[in-house]
Amino acid sequence: MKIDGIQSADCLVIGDLNIDLVLNGLRGLPELDKEILAQNYSVVIGGSGGVFTAVLSRLGVVTSIISKISNDFFGSFLIKELKKNGADVSNLVIIDSGETGITINLSYEKGKSQISSVKLIKSFNKSDIIFDKIENPRHIHFSSYYMMDGLKKDYLEIIKKLKQRNSKLTFSFDTNDDPTDTWGKEIYEIFRVIDILFLNRKEALKISRQPSLDRALARLGSYVENVILKLGKEGYLAKCGSKTYRGYCKNLKNEYFQDSTGAGDNFDAGFIYGFLNGFGIVKSLSIANYVAEKSIEYMGGVGPEEKFNKIKKNFKIF
Ligand SMILES: Nc1ncnc2c1ncn2[C@@H]1O[C@H](COP(=O)(O)OP(=O)(O)OP(=O)(O)O)[C@@H](O)[C@H]1O
Ligand SMILES: [Mg+2]
Repeated sequence: MKIDGIQSADCLVIGDLNIDLVLNGLRGLPELDKEILAQNYSVVIGGSGGVFTAVLSRLGVVTSIISKISNDFFGSFLIKELKKNGADVSNLVIIDSGETGITINLSYEKGKSQISSVKLIKSFNKSDIIFDKIENPRHIHFSSYYMMDGLKKDYLEIIKKLKQRNSKLTFSFDTNDDPTDTWGKEIYEIFRVIDILFLNRKEALKISRQPSLDRALARLGSYVENVILKLGKEGYLAKCGSKTYRGYCKNLKNEYFQDSTGAGDNFDAGFIYGFLNGFGIVKSLSIANYVAEKSIEYMGGVGPEEKFNKIKKNFKIF
């Protein structure tokens, strides 16, 4: 047990944490020299790593995050919110200068447009990870590879170092989008040493350079044991070992849709929740899909108590 009462983390996230400003109920796309109105907005935990950490904590897995924020208004807000969700914040790098990252999400039912200012995340590097401080997690999740400019060249070394301490440690990886649209091949070196890869449709096609999802899955699956492709409201397609799994969303009409920000991170957290509890692939995928489906019914990535109550009730778990 730690001094602040949080047990040592089962899952450690290394990745992006920032503020999400979500604007929804927008009538159109912004245009130069014009003002458009949103119906409402919310300021919430953002960054793929941040949402994953908070959701997994809420599901009951003690989760810690290593990321870089500033000692500013938004940084304090993130610490408070992460703690509220039961996450461990003791590994965060908090500096006195710079600005905590922010993403402005223009949320539409058909998708979203995002504007990010995340200098601190991009400057986060290997020296920000204090290996001696990391206790003994069972699982490591890396988020937003393409955002982590300062870390890109060091993933292999970090994984090797962590595996030396615990050979049973498992690793998951969600690249998210590549804002430079480069999709470099060097990422395959990392794929060789991780256990679970989460991608969405575009990421899978771009990274694999294949024309179809089936071919992307086959190619990626020759590097990673578990490849899970998230397909928005069409559900998911996965290859785990030699088996392929296809799952669908129930609410195809998107009734109750509010905002899809962080739906993919909800999916990842739902799956890792099942994985760490030993529920097996089928149940873990089904939890992941449900958690993600519920997440679009609420503003922001993490969402309120009501969402987690529905998940609990549906799966009669935690
Ligand atoms: N209308 C919807 N839009 C997006 N995701 C949905 C929708 N309905 C259900 N989902 C669920 O959300 C999951 C996330 O899918 P998506 O393809 O958006 O991932 P992603 O692009 O990684 O998300 P993120 O924007 O959080 O990175 C889907 O697999 C599905 O379970
Ligand atoms: Mg994603």
